[in-house]
Amino acid sequence: KIIVLDYGSQYNQLITRRIREFGVFSELHPHDLTADEIKELNPTGIILSGGPNSVYGEDAFTIDEEIFQLGVPILGICYGMQLIAHHFGGNVGQAGKREYGKALITRETNSSLFATLPKEQQVWMSHGDHVTEAPESFTVDAFNPSCPIAAFSDEDRQLYGVQFHPEVKHSEYGNDLLKNFVMNICNCHGEWTMENFIDIEVEKIREQVKGRKVLCALSGGVDSSVVAVLLHKAIGDQLTCIFVDHGLLRKNEAEDVMTMFSEGFNMNVLKIDAKDRFLGKLKGVSDPEQKRKIIGNEFIYVFEDESNKLKDIAFLAQGTLYTDIIESGTKTAQTIKSHHNVGGLPERMEFDLIEPLNTLFKDEVRKLGEELGIPKHIVWRQPFPGPGLAIRVLGEITEQKLEIVRESDAILREEIKNNNLNRDVWQYFTVLPGVQSVGVMGDQRTYDHTIAIRAVTSVDGMTSDWARIPFDVLEQISTRMVNEVSHINRVVYDITSKPPSTIEWE
Ligand code: XMP
Repeated sequence: KIIVLDYGSQYNQLITRRIREFGVFSELHPHDLTADEIKELNPTGIILSGGPNSVYGEDAFTIDEEIFQLGVPILGICYGMQLIAHHFGGNVGQAGKREYGKALITRETNSSLFATLPKEQQVWMSHGDHVTEAPESFTVDAFNPSCPIAAFSDEDRQLYGVQFHPEVKHSEYGNDLLKNFVMNICNCHGEWTMENFIDIEVEKIREQVKGRKVLCALSGGVDSSVVAVLLHKAIGDQLTCIFVDHGLLRKNEAEDVMTMFSEGFNMNVLKIDAKDRFLGKLKGVSDPEQKRKIIGNEFIYVFEDESNKLKDIAFLAQGTLYTDIIESGTKTAQTIKSHHNVGGLPERMEFDLIEPLNTLFKDEVRKLGEELGIPKHIVWRQPFPGPGLAIRVLGEITEQKLEIVRESDAILREEIKNNNLNRDVWQYFTVLPGVQSVGVMGDQRTYDHTIAIRAVTSVDGMTSDWARIPFDVLEQISTRMVNEVSHINRVVYDITSKPPSTIEWE
């Protein structure tokens, strides 16, 4: 296995997933792991990730220098490369100009990392500092005019560094470079699969749970469905699933989910009607982070109440993904928004958490779902966030606003389905910005709501682009929304990618 030490880049879990795609197990660990702790993990290779700091900064994240004595191949990416340079007596300095985005590099040597790659290649740079002088025993393997030491290596010690980010898709041969490190330098074999993942997780869950009982928070989305099926496989009837209707669901959602699980799976599912308590707590609240936190907390309180009724529940299982964790902020990464099941959790809880998907991305979870035999129509459902329509009614929530979003969303879903766009568009929904404007309907002046359509393409939700829905389909959707939903007199289409936007508006 390859371990990645986390120095805080938003993209570092991408490194682990690229490696898993080669069929080699890989996981992310905190950067402050000691050399002894790493030895215990017995990795075949170590990657030091990128990060926002400067190695000379006061709060710079450091490395247990004994890691360099373990005799395990090490690849440093960006900040990771600078750490290697710093440790072996090289120099790191501020780049003449900070470099973000595409850059062309030229390969100068045949180091094992670059040997199979073309002489010139496009890479993705994102840094302020760079290595200005390589340590004595190191060879410079690639350069670029504004970053003369774009890559270096000490092949005898199996130490490698690259200033650019091979893990992002914009680095043309980044994947090949990572593959060279993992398969050739570290000599991994590529025998790991999702099937192994299931076996490993089932064992881990049995070991953790023993004879105790588990409550699973089921939303009907792919993540929680996969967790429920995985847990059921591991512990059978020790599992009870709870589906909470918080009054922020899409049209017909509660009925659909209950039918799906009672008919499709042989699982114990309880439906809890918690509409009044959620909407009551949200009354008068308009700050997005506060809304998310209230919902995250309330979910847990509902689970605690139910578990008191059921007695002896020791664990709560949730379908938290890696994306939820990284965006909610970690020790090293900034908070973008508090996902309800991570940053939205109360500080004290009666349960221990089981989160078997927390190292995976959405598309990996879908693969896992298919491997577990979950029907395709569930595995390929579009994502729906736990806070539901609360984050699609911007600002304060009212029943009337929820109704506008619910009805317009139902029309959008119907039209996407009728036009066979479900597989092309990754996620699609409507948002009520709370903006009113003037219109004219049947010779009458109106002053009513604008509804926004958000439809995106993505692979894992980390980045996304706006979906190119054909104009005639958009026209049909717009006409239907204005005609069929009261209080809409204008429809707009959101054409921003992520970044700089996010997929949801709050
Ligand atoms: P953003 O808006 O962060 O969304 O670009 C990325 C993906 O995550 C979903 N999302 C959430 N899912 N709880 C969830 O279960 C949340 O609090 C949450 N916030 C966003 C969003 O729908 C998109 O698929």
